[in-house]
Amino acid sequence: MEVKPTGQACGAFVTGVDLSAPLSPAIVAAIRAAWLQHHVLVFPGQDMDDDDLEQFTLALGGFGDDPFIAPIPGRKHVIAVARAADETSPIFAENWHTDWSFQARPPAGTCLYGIRIPPTGGDTLFANQHLALEHMPETLRSRIEGRMAIHSAQRAYAPEGFYGEGDKGRSMTIRPSEAARATQLHPIIRPHPETGRPGLFGTFGYIIGIEGMADAEAVPLLLELYQWQGREEFQYRHKWEGGMLVMWDNRSVLHAATGGYAGHARLLHRTTIAAA
Ligand SMILES: [Fe+2]
Repeated sequence: MEVKPTGQACGAFVTGVDLSAPLSPAIVAAIRAAWLQHHVLVFPGQDMDDDDLEQFTLALGGFGDDPFIAPIPGRKHVIAVARAADETSPIFAENWHTDWSFQARPPAGTCLYGIRIPPTGGDTLFANQHLALEHMPETLRSRIEGRMAIHSAQRAYAPEGFYGEGDKGRSMTIRPSEAARATQLHPIIRPHPETGRPGLFGTFGYIIGIEGMADAEAVPLLLELYQWQGREEFQYRHKWEGGMLVMWDNRSVLHAATGGYAGHARLLHRTTIAAA
């Protein structure tokens, strides 16, 4: 197995391993180590079906709990990230976020496998939140040090949310719910649960406020943080190919979808890896 860094702020390409075959404990350990080091792993040229995607996810830590998006028929843990060629609804997940950060135990990682990839556009952006913290000006850091963020899915998945009942004509099967109003606290600055390296966890969107801070102060601060967290110097811009499996660490990077492929269908299958 070979691991070659992207040369950008995070991410590495991994070759020399067939993810459709059973993985030895040594290979799984090597993948996990590379994942913790590079935060985003790209496995090009893989030929995986949904069974293979599930087996890989199980090997890396088991399935997370995926609310608000229906799984594909016949599978409990695979969702389709899909867009029709003529679809005009806003691009799904175009804002920076980390998956399901509103959960008490958010998923450690996410796996995304490219099935139908447009010839242009549709890049996925990743932003390294260790670097975002390490390079943060002290004037900004002092305002978030020791603070707890209030996370919630309500802006996205409550009935009146962005993907709620008013969101029409979308290929993806999204299930808005009153359950999206639940809130969960996580530290804004926290050590990575496995490596201990401090980083920023989550961002404005799923973060809806800061504990003990009035919204009049918290919202502008969260917007300022959002701008900082997604700066280009912290980014890896991933360009997709069919047959690519990408797995990222939700505890150390933010990610965002991009458009730019109107007129082309796009399909990827996704699983989440449970918290360690
Ligand atoms: Fe996401």
